[in-house]
Amino acid sequence: METSHREVARLIRENGQVVAFTGAGISVESGIPAFRGGQGLWEKYDPMEYAHIESFLRQPDKVWCMLREMGEVIFRAAPSPAHRALGALEQAGLLSAVITQNVDGLHQMAGNSNVIEYHGNHRRLVCLSCSRTSAFTVDDLTRMPYPVCDRCGEALKPDVVFFGEGIPVSAMARANQEAAACRMMIIIGTSGVVYPAADIPFMASRKGAVIVEINLSPTPFTSSITHHFLEGSASAVMAAIVDDLGLARG
Ligand code: OAD
Repeated sequence: METSHREVARLIRENGQVVAFTGAGISVESGIPAFRGGQGLWEKYDPMEYAHIESFLRQPDKVWCMLREMGEVIFRAAPSPAHRALGALEQAGLLSAVITQNVDGLHQMAGNSNVIEYHGNHRRLVCLSCSRTSAFTVDDLTRMPYPVCDRCGEALKPDVVFFGEGIPVSAMARANQEAAACRMMIIIGTSGVVYPAADIPFMASRKGAVIVEINLSPTPFTSSITHHFLEGSASAVMAAIVDDLGLARG
């Protein structure tokens, strides 16, 4: 059902304790391209060749060409009005968690404190040999052909979930818990085609949550579980909602 941002603002006030479930679309206005469609990363790089763990283990130098490009884009990015609107909702006590598939760390930069990173974080590096993690800094982008672990000399990998890898256990447990407990879930800027992440809104729906969705175009959620669909850019719609609630945008 198409609905207005004013109606959604009223529902947020009524339900409180909202959980946001976000995807790449919320970071597009921060200058980070999404994965699918038009300018999508997976249009340029075949994910099976560049984002599968087997590819990383076989050819880290090749995969690091893409990772370096992604790193440059992420390091340049700043939170969008949509990220900041979620920060403002938390400040107002209306948002209990953000479950994100994004790896850019922008929700935390926008002031959200309970951020569940379902697919990891690209601002952290991990050694697959000794499991040590370290900050991924701009300087690492200049380490050729790729950054290596000081301790064991193995290639470091951004601490993100590659295809063929499992979801971090604690992120999955926390996400399931938030989805089961929330009264309202706002799905923002995700195509909803990557599992198990895409199960999360279905879980919230089964537990009776009101489902609101914000996207430029419909997704598999829209015709199945979405109660209120707001067509438009994440930033325009979220900023309007926060204005309707009378909150500062953050
Ligand atoms: P996708 O690229 O699959 O989908 C982006 C969604 O955002 C689409 O539905 C767009 O219509 C929508 N969109 C684009 N710009 C928008 C805007 N300005 N405002 C609102 N919506 C907008 O990205 P994800 O669904 O996040 O996984 O992709 C899911 C996972 O697939 C990612 O986490 C990543 C990828 O493979 C891993 O890397 C493990």
